Amino acid sequence: MQFFPSDYFIKLKKEEIFPDPKRPLEIDLGCGDGSFLINLAVNFPSKDFLGVERLLGRVRKVCRRSLKEDLQNLKVLRLESSYTLEWLLPDHCASRIHLLFPDPWPKKKHHKRRLVNEQFCASLVRVLEPNGEFLFKTDYLEYFEESMSVLKSFISLKEIQWDPDSYYPKTDFEKVWTDQGKIIYYARFKPNK
Ligand SMILES: C[S@@+](CC[C@H](N)C(=O)[O-])C[C@H]1O[C@@H](n2cnc3c(N)ncnc32)[C@H](O)[C@@H]1O
Repeated sequence: MQFFPSDYFIKLKKEEIFPDPKRPLEIDLGCGDGSFLINLAVNFPSKDFLGVERLLGRVRKVCRRSLKEDLQNLKVLRLESSYTLEWLLPDHCASRIHLLFPDPWPKKKHHKRRLVNEQFCASLVRVLEPNGEFLFKTDYLEYFEESMSVLKSFISLKEIQWDPDSYYPKTDFEKVWTDQGKIIYYARFKPNK
């Protein structure tokens, strides 16, 4: 279902997103058509999942698919990811934040539109639980290198190994890129206590 905050200008309380604040909450920034999130929501009914997506058509598609599966643990917010992370989400509410195949903005004049910057890192630390995780994937090497440089130099974040045994479904874009034989770059970080 689509999630509409009662006020877009004050920080939410966790229980405004889903009724039970004790349940783990995972956030997918730029969830696209939502296959990844729907897969997780089906497989982990004891967790809640919030997709953030700015395109209305994609938001509607996720809502339709989630309704078809009768998923009570999945909602989608139609909003810009940086704003959502910086200004709307409550402190330390998320067990995992996923940023999967964000738009790479390859032209130099558009680099400032890229999501990963110092403010984004500070917002990650604010929104993640102390033991939470940030998971990042891209097929775009130059964007990966730039993002890794920002993430690694942010002292309140610490890189950890990607757990090869964790259940982590492929996203729609990942399926396309892997079918084309592209290399996928990935990284995992946690708050540095
Ligand atoms: C390349 S697609 C990847 C979608 C999905 N994560 C996947 O891997 O299949 C990027 C998605 O992020 C959305 N998006 C890009 N920038 C965004 C932003 N600043 N805020 C919210 N959504 C954004 C786009 O509309 C698009 O659906």
